Amino acid sequence: MKFVVANWKMHGNLSDALALAHASAKIAEQMSHVRLIIAPGFLHLMPVKEALRWVPHNFDLAAQTVSPFEDGAFTGDVSASQLKGLVDYCIVGHSERRHGHHETHESVNHQIQRLVHVGIKPIVCFGETHYAKGKISTALLHGLAHDLHEVSPETIEKCIFAYEPVWAIGTGKVASSEHIATVVRYVKEWFKEVHKIEPKVLYGGSVTAKNVTVIAKTNEIDGVLVGGASLHAKEVEAICRAFGHPV
Ligand code: PGA
Repeated sequence: MKFVVANWKMHGNLSDALALAHASAKIAEQMSHVRLIIAPGFLHLMPVKEALRWVPHNFDLAAQTVSPFEDGAFTGDVSASQLKGLVDYCIVGHSERRHGHHETHESVNHQIQRLVHVGIKPIVCFGETHYAKGKISTALLHGLAHDLHEVSPETIEKCIFAYEPVWAIGTGKVASSEHIATVVRYVKEWFKEVHKIEPKVLYGGSVTAKNVTVIAKTNEIDGVLVGGASLHAKEVEAICRAFGHPV
């Protein structure tokens, strides 16, 4: 089953979130070939969960980040144990967190471990900052290795990874399917060799209804992480549809 992760970022008010959540759940119901995961902001997670009394089996909620710390005196933070029971997934290491909020590999590493400890699956973002044609950035695996430093294979197995070239996020510059395939194949090989696992790897960065058809044909990827386009139900529907035939 392919994944479509809708990262709503810091957009919209509560009524926008409720309307989009209802529309997204309906889309998931018609698209049982994909797992649709919506990630509203922290403030909207609980009301969205309460408003959606019934959801299809292929629909889940995610948080957009989590504190690297255990519960305690950390003003403004939300811990993994506070998210327990509320979400099944949590995005970690998004480039907007790494660059805008100076999150380090160590912090991402702790977030992964705290989430898995309470039974939430991390969606770990990674990606190079600059595009070099035909080249795979050495920083990619270097960064991933740091994020996963001393993380057990059992914990890594619970993670989904999202290849998100920073130059493609919110820029309208989508990576070519050849580039995505090359990088994802390379990363999956590395996981096989070093960690003896075959993780799911998604692609993210300017995915829209317009360009998703080509991306969806890239066999190497297990789905997409969508930002801007995920705020529009019509776009979400088309993106899900591109991954196969609705039932
Ligand atoms: P975008 O965002 O689809 O708006 O480029 C993707 C992301 O931030 O994950």
